[in-house]
Amino acid sequence: MQLPSKRLMFAGACAVGAALVTTATTSPFAALAQTSAALKPQMSEQAFKNIQVLKGIPVDEFMGTMGLFSAALSVCCGDCHVGAGGDNPDWAADTPRKQMARKMVLMVQAINKTNFGGRQNITCWTCHRGVSNPAVTPSIDSIYSEPNVPPPDILRTATSGVPTANQIFDKYIEAIGGAANLAKVTSWSAKGEAVMFGTDNKADKAEVYAKAPDEYATIIRQKDGDMERVTNGRQALVVLPLTVVKQYPLDDSALEGGKLDGKVAFPINIKSFFPTWHVSFPITLDLSQKDSDGKVIKEDRRDVYVVQGTGNPQGMVATFYFDKSTGLLLRMIRYANSAVGRVPTQIDWSDFRPVAGGLTMPFKFTYGWVSGREDYTLTEITPNAPVDASLFDKPISQVK
Ligand code: HEC
Ligand code: HEC
Repeated sequence: MQLPSKRLMFAGACAVGAALVTTATTSPFAALAQTSAALKPQMSEQAFKNIQVLKGIPVDEFMGTMGLFSAALSVCCGDCHVGAGGDNPDWAADTPRKQMARKMVLMVQAINKTNFGGRQNITCWTCHRGVSNPAVTPSIDSIYSEPNVPPPDILRTATSGVPTANQIFDKYIEAIGGAANLAKVTSWSAKGEAVMFGTDNKADKAEVYAKAPDEYATIIRQKDGDMERVTNGRQALVVLPLTVVKQYPLDDSALEGGKLDGKVAFPINIKSFFPTWHVSFPITLDLSQKDSDGKVIKEDRRDVYVVQGTGNPQGMVATFYFDKSTGLLLRMIRYANSAVGRVPTQIDWSDFRPVAGGLTMPFKFTYGWVSGREDYTLTEITPNAPVDASLFDKPISQVK
């Protein structure tokens, strides 16, 4: 277990760190700074200079594919890009690895087209699994030890022995305070701290705002500018002051993911978000706390019901993990589509405590995506706090 946790931290660290650029030296992106954030999708080939294979996709999806590349090979942006992480990155310059990655994109597209009717059955991860040089031969040890089988994205339906999706949702709504109490909440706000992987691991101040039925914003006040994820229920925007593209709107299935975050802020709305739900086989989540060497500090395993939402018109899929005994929602993984396979985002909630209005809410959550992870620790959650509507619309409308 030691290796994976270290590797993940490393991948996260280098992905975020290497994406840092100083504003003064980003001349290649000067044009982008003005146009990238138009709410109608900005296409990769307009935004960037040297796009040969990942054409015709919006910038948010493009950045998702970069995250998937880094994750598949366990490398940093700087392993493919000249000067990434330094003062003068040249993202457009071609390196041998970058050219190899282009070839691989074409190879993967061809495999899927010829063999799987164009479905994205083969992705970078299928072969690479975190290494540059995929293994070709099974090791004898791997044959005779427990297989490490990651679950597929689209889960099978359990045929017996599980409650219905409705029963699981009903128990969840009860567990967080009941439908009557929840209906009285028209807004909430929270304060605390967040630690971002890959930065210096120091905590920054964080704030969360939510307005019913589905407006939601998380803000981390970094010294170099606020990092923000915001949705007004119709549109969604990500502001990442320290990265290549400083702010970009979410499109298509990624936008659906942003909107889902808004629904989850008022959980009574989650169920109606997806047209179809199915309950898969229960599993045990290992939520044990580990130190940086992967040694378990505090054992924590939870048996959970697994419920998946599908049928979203943009193809976004999400899986929800509910604690069997308490009924609480512990994890959500949502998947957006991209040119090279699904881009996962995982949110974990913990430290549930009572708050005003008879509600129970999580004081800790972790937002993990392909290019970074943020750990939030809240100190204060205030249901029905006055929340300024412009918080959600303003960052989005300011984008020209
Ligand atoms: C495995 C190699 C690889 C990794 C790792 C990688 N990229 Fe890329 N990147 C590419 C390739 C290939 C292209 C060109 C795509 C094309 O031609 O369609 C590209 C293009 C880009 C561009 C557009 C440059 C331009 O102006 O043409 C940006 C910006 C970029 N990558 C950012 C990143 C960031 C940020 C990361 C880390 C999160 C990253 N990349 C990680 C391979 C990589
Ligand atoms: C069918 C299996 C397979 C798939 C799918 C695949 N690769 Fe590869 N990839 C390989 C193999 C095998 C090598 C090693 C080739 C060699 O050693 O000559 C490799 C090598 C690479 C390298 C060079 C690594 C280095 O450090 O020299 C890059 C970059 C790369 N792949 C990127 C990707 C990307 C990006 C994707 C997804 C778009 C992808 N690969 C999908 C099999 C695959």
